[in-house]
Amino acid sequence: MTTMDIYKEFMQTLDAVSRTMQFLSQSGQIGFDCTEKTVDTLGRWGRPETLEDIRSDLGDCHRCGLSSGRHHIVFGVGDPKARLVFIGEGPGYEEDRQGEPFVGAAGQLLTKIIHAIGLTRDKVYICNVVKCRPPGNRNPLPDEMARCLPVLKRQLSSIRPAVICTLGSVATQALLDVDTPISRLRGRFHDYQDIPVMPTYHPAYLLRNPERKRDVWEDMKQVMSRINRGLNET
Ligand code: URA
Repeated sequence: MTTMDIYKEFMQTLDAVSRTMQFLSQSGQIGFDCTEKTVDTLGRWGRPETLEDIRSDLGDCHRCGLSSGRHHIVFGVGDPKARLVFIGEGPGYEEDRQGEPFVGAAGQLLTKIIHAIGLTRDKVYICNVVKCRPPGNRNPLPDEMARCLPVLKRQLSSIRPAVICTLGSVATQALLDVDTPISRLRGRFHDYQDIPVMPTYHPAYLLRNPERKRDVWEDMKQVMSRINRGLNET
């Protein structure tokens, strides 16, 4: 490209900008929104959404009542390009204090399960349906889940994992939009936007019912083979 070409291209761009400004002014536009949020949104234009973008949009979220009692928004941890995503229902006491999902007693069991399938917490992604702790660890209410679910769905679109593992009935039913009990859903793959979903028992349930660990191991074996199958195909 010669200097003259660059000059011509520059003048054409200037002309296009000038005509756009005239059009906007004639149609009543009297200024531009140059707030940090708008500039940020324009900067992201046309590129795939990252987890940082989603976290930044969430801000100091007050979309539901759970915000009033929380210490931290527990967004999620792990590899933004993980092949495996674990989804729980919502942060508990420890998670709310530390700002990280699955760090309490159930979390320690989940970490063991992750190690048992040859992975580590930083090689997978771990998150929850709701990002703030329901008081007294009650189940999240339908309205709380409805407000938070879009965030989870954007996280999944950004990560595009090879497999999703939902932990317990709340996460499974919310993601798959069903009300079937977990005992009838676990053990086989379901579909979420062309991503295989393996529902399994929640680690907190396993702490109370250790005889179910065998079932979870069967589910995890299927998860492992699906992840490895994907790897061998690429
Ligand atoms: N239980 C969940 O469902 N999620 C957590 O992060 C911790 C416990």
